[in-house]
Amino acid sequence: MTEDAARIEGLLRAMTLEEKVGQLTMIRADFDAAGSTLLAPKLADIAAGRAGSVLDLRGASAILPGQKAAVENSRLKIPLLFTLDVLHGYRTIFPVPLGEAAAFDPDLWTRTARAAAVEAAADGIALTYAPMLDVARDPRWGRIVESAGEDPFVTARFAEAKVKGFQTDDLARSDAVAATAKHFAGYAAVNAGREYASADFSQRTLEEVYLPPFAASVNAGVAAIMPAFIELAGVPLTAHRALLTGVLRERFGFDGVLISDFFAVAELIRHGVAADAAEAAALALDAGVDIDMASGTYTEGLPEALARGLVRIETIDAAVRRVLALKLALGLFEKPYARGEGALAPATIEAHRALAREAARQSVVLLQNNGALPLPAQTSRLAVIGPLADAPGEMLGPWRAAGEASETVSFLAGVETAFPQATVIHANGGDIPAALEAARASDAVLLFLGETANMSGEANSRARPVIPEAQRALAEAVFSLGKPVIVTLTSGRPLVAPWLFEKAHAVLAAWFLGSEAGNALGDILSGAAAPGGKLPLSWPFDAGQIPVYYGERPTGRPANPENHDTSKYLDVPNTPQFPFGQGLTYTRFDYTEPRASVATLRPGEILTVEVDIANIGDVAGEEIVYLFIRDPLASVTRPLLELKAFTRIKALPGERVTARFHLTTDAFSFPDAAGKPRLESGEIEILTGPGAAPSLLKRCRVHILTNE
Ligand code: GLC
Repeated sequence: MTEDAARIEGLLRAMTLEEKVGQLTMIRADFDAAGSTLLAPKLADIAAGRAGSVLDLRGASAILPGQKAAVENSRLKIPLLFTLDVLHGYRTIFPVPLGEAAAFDPDLWTRTARAAAVEAAADGIALTYAPMLDVARDPRWGRIVESAGEDPFVTARFAEAKVKGFQTDDLARSDAVAATAKHFAGYAAVNAGREYASADFSQRTLEEVYLPPFAASVNAGVAAIMPAFIELAGVPLTAHRALLTGVLRERFGFDGVLISDFFAVAELIRHGVAADAAEAAALALDAGVDIDMASGTYTEGLPEALARGLVRIETIDAAVRRVLALKLALGLFEKPYARGEGALAPATIEAHRALAREAARQSVVLLQNNGALPLPAQTSRLAVIGPLADAPGEMLGPWRAAGEASETVSFLAGVETAFPQATVIHANGGDIPAALEAARASDAVLLFLGETANMSGEANSRARPVIPEAQRALAEAVFSLGKPVIVTLTSGRPLVAPWLFEKAHAVLAAWFLGSEAGNALGDILSGAAAPGGKLPLSWPFDAGQIPVYYGERPTGRPANPENHDTSKYLDVPNTPQFPFGQGLTYTRFDYTEPRASVATLRPGEILTVEVDIANIGDVAGEEIVYLFIRDPLASVTRPLLELKAFTRIKALPGERVTARFHLTTDAFSFPDAAGKPRLESGEIEILTGPGAAPSLLKRCRVHILTNE
């Protein structure tokens, strides 16, 4: 038995039932004018061993009394775990995950998570509720902002990168933070995009779309996983033993901690599967949930559940072991005060700000551009118009942790910095005549529209994911002047606005860009940097198309304008406004056909695919290159496209660069009914190009030859 295991067994033997249940109980901080705090009753609970972890308390000085109550005053001196949602930065705020996903850059994803962990750990945080790994295809759902978009392969790479960034390879480091993969699983499939609604999808969709990112997080060593609030086909995820224990623990080998979502254990009663706290506690614990977040149901219900024979002490002990093992792995027993010790050096904060500016530039997606961007250096009069122009607080988006509006660069400030020689006239757009006056006096109009942070994120589903009416009226009035209009959309989701894309000279999707929003945008508008992002999800032309995504399955009646009885709408096109992978830059690229290293691939062999990309423009640029496959004939239908690799390349004007991908036969297998990877012989198409738009893809073929 290892030393840690022996220590855990020793503690278990000494623990009372109340102390065991205490380790499975997470309390929430109180909030007063000074911010989050632990009031005396909570400190008393901690000293009595009735709490093992805390949610939402941040700041070294606020955390210290709580940790002292546990480590110095409690009977067994078990340290507390302090936890917070640090999704896209702690004090330095990076682009929201949906925006950062647009960079298609795992190294960047790791670096921003690392910076966030350094800042959060310095303030006493030991666990974050990130990365969020819900593959999201419904922009009506507010939490699409927290996702990495519509694709399971991208989300799986995002998972690996974020776990590595938050945790490093040594969780005991005082600047390491335990990551929590969430929300397991399929939360993004809520009915009609309505928050917290139920989801119901096939086992195949579960295996092909929703499980792979969590499998990737487990393989990356994620410390914790959070079940989703919702129910899946009649079983709330918080009580879903087949998935939490059967899949996560037994099939994926996850040995970390399962933390319920906020109050989710108590909500099993509202779901209608538990009559009281004892039944709810028993269901969640038996399913595999180790920690009850903030509902107090384990405290209230587990002793009674034990007395009523609804749970066994061995199950409680197993959960306590996992919680203690996480605290040991985090080094909390040896150094309970290490996180929260050190104020960060100014140079560290400066480096994080520079990283935030880089990440923001790489996250902006140039959706369309008739040549209006980059703005000419001699631009002398700029109108900056719209409610999101001078709104630094909105740039932080949902889940802003310790981010401060006062430390955020607005778009207006960024434009003034990027164009020091220009006259910048600002109008927030509430007074349309004043805005038109500003526009008339300008060479070009920079229009800043979209969502405020409270229109996005949790509990902010929108049945109509559009630009607010008042902003449309402002935009239509500005367009009517005939000036060059460059629109920057701030949002946590694609916004349905065909009327805008018809008229704007250029449109940038800026998501919520974070602390350095204005500077990053100024870099892009001035041409000091090119926009680096591509869409990580399809941008609907109409809400009626939702869910619209590139990985759909074929139909027996594919759309055909010559034949009425085919898959289509009478009133809108099938295709989105913009496809997955849409994203322009300031140069252009030309692709050759992909070249496969072998014509036939057998299990265990490696296929190398090469594609040359030439920069045919006159400025240097970066390009995100995608590799999809299409399996046209198999024992089950296969999606029209499946993403299997992506990479970023850089090329000088006139330079030709070769992107090289290495695939094993794993890339060509698909889950059978039991989720086991199945490889079948047959011809597979390999398609490479700048995105999922079929017209831009070039292909080659490989023949898979299995041993069957
Ligand atoms: C919230 C969210 C979850 C978050 C948790 C703690 O309701 O669903 O993503 O981590 O509560 O804040």
